[in-house]
Amino acid sequence: MSTTNTPNHLTAPIFWQRLQWVARPDRYMENAARQYPDIFTAELAGFGNRLVFVNQPEALQEVLTSDRKTYAALGELNRILSPLLGDYSVMLLEGDRHRKRRQLVMPAFHGDRMKAYSQLMVGLTKDVLEAIPFNQPFLARSVAQEISLQVILQAVFGMCEGERFQQLRQALVVVAEMFRSPLSSSPLFFTSLQKDWGAWSPWGKFVRDRQRMDELIYAEIRDRRANVDPNRIDVLSMLMAATDETGQPMSDRELRDELVTLMFAGHETTATALAWALYWVHRLPEVREKLLHELDNADWSDPMSLLRLPYLTAVCNETLRIHPVAMLTFPRVVQEPTELLGYKLDPGVAVVGCMYLIHQREDLYPNPKQFRPERFLERQYSPYEFIPFGSGARRCIGEALAQFEMKLVLATILRHYHLTLADPRPEYPRRRGVTLAPARGVKMVKTHLEN
Ligand code: HEM
Repeated sequence: MSTTNTPNHLTAPIFWQRLQWVARPDRYMENAARQYPDIFTAELAGFGNRLVFVNQPEALQEVLTSDRKTYAALGELNRILSPLLGDYSVMLLEGDRHRKRRQLVMPAFHGDRMKAYSQLMVGLTKDVLEAIPFNQPFLARSVAQEISLQVILQAVFGMCEGERFQQLRQALVVVAEMFRSPLSSSPLFFTSLQKDWGAWSPWGKFVRDRQRMDELIYAEIRDRRANVDPNRIDVLSMLMAATDETGQPMSDRELRDELVTLMFAGHETTATALAWALYWVHRLPEVREKLLHELDNADWSDPMSLLRLPYLTAVCNETLRIHPVAMLTFPRVVQEPTELLGYKLDPGVAVVGCMYLIHQREDLYPNPKQFRPERFLERQYSPYEFIPFGSGARRCIGEALAQFEMKLVLATILRHYHLTLADPRPEYPRRRGVTLAPARGVKMVKTHLEN
């Protein structure tokens, strides 16, 4: 791979850059952007070692609108995720296979299917919130995770009840917790730490937890193969009915990798976004008041109408603006010599769109550390200025589901329960796998019911 032509190299020693990237990615990016606001080259472990960060909307648009040609959306560079997702996940596929897999799963997360999930989301939110005792601290992120996990299980398997699903839910949470901090996420970035020294070693525990999760998934696949129901419209049924160009159906391994991908991508990110939204709405009384006023006047008999509420939309957008959860797009790899922002890029160079830094740009978002939903009411942002779900060939498959879920769950919680923050200290972002989540999980208490 040629890397002679890459712009604005950060000068800090490579090992130091990698440590900082794992320990405090937000600080790492902000320090780099102070030196080079639009574009810089970082030396990181994980998604390719040398990465060009693009933090300027028009330049990112150039990359993502030609990511099937000049900048290929190669799955190879997402290998960092393969210990969890396997080699057959949509995130690791490329070319035609990638495109077809996306087409196969997309309908489950769009359009009419959303309506079907709305009752489930409202019902689940109430069940989970009812079960929390009054005046006892709980972590908003864990509560949000409980809700988002059940929603994604429903979408993927078509149900979320029964003993196997209880076990699967627990198994997924245990595996996800493995990546809850920078330290526990570090084997993803430093592969030499991926050593199974037995059940008590961190990687050994991960391997065993993953195996328990896989066994449950394979058992479900076996049952479904034995009892085919042509009327089912969940993701697993659609994947099982699909064949490739040679007429071959997907293998158990391929099915497992896709299910795990959708389950993790589909609940971890949304749970984090919801936790941040709850944090800001309760941290800023004026935001909560405005939102409650809008929700009081909304038509609750039609949950789909809640999606169009301007202030609720602005609150969710501002949450994803200030905390874009995923920080970066997946890498795109230069295919032919090209230029970006006046810098030459050689074939083989890996480029990422940095939504974290784009969303912090003072020229787009004055006073960017301030949570101010009104900015989304005052100004229309282009799809590359506000870009929490990426774009182009690898644009998030679950964008519609995530936005729908954020709005509906947040609205339901606010309308029915009175919560307050139980920790006066400000929250701050901390690495959780390849995402950024609230470090303390947003401690809250339920004080009373709303009328
Ligand atoms: C707030 C919640 C979410 C955020 C912030 C988010 C963000 C992202 C981002 C930034 C990407 C990469 C886009 C790119 O490289 O251009 C992505 C890809 C992806 N997301 Fe999401 N996501 C969220 C929720 C979901 C949900 C609910 C699902 C599941 C249904 C999902 C499934 C995926 C998948 C499968 C990909 C890979 C697509 C591919 O490789 O072609 N995400 N997401």
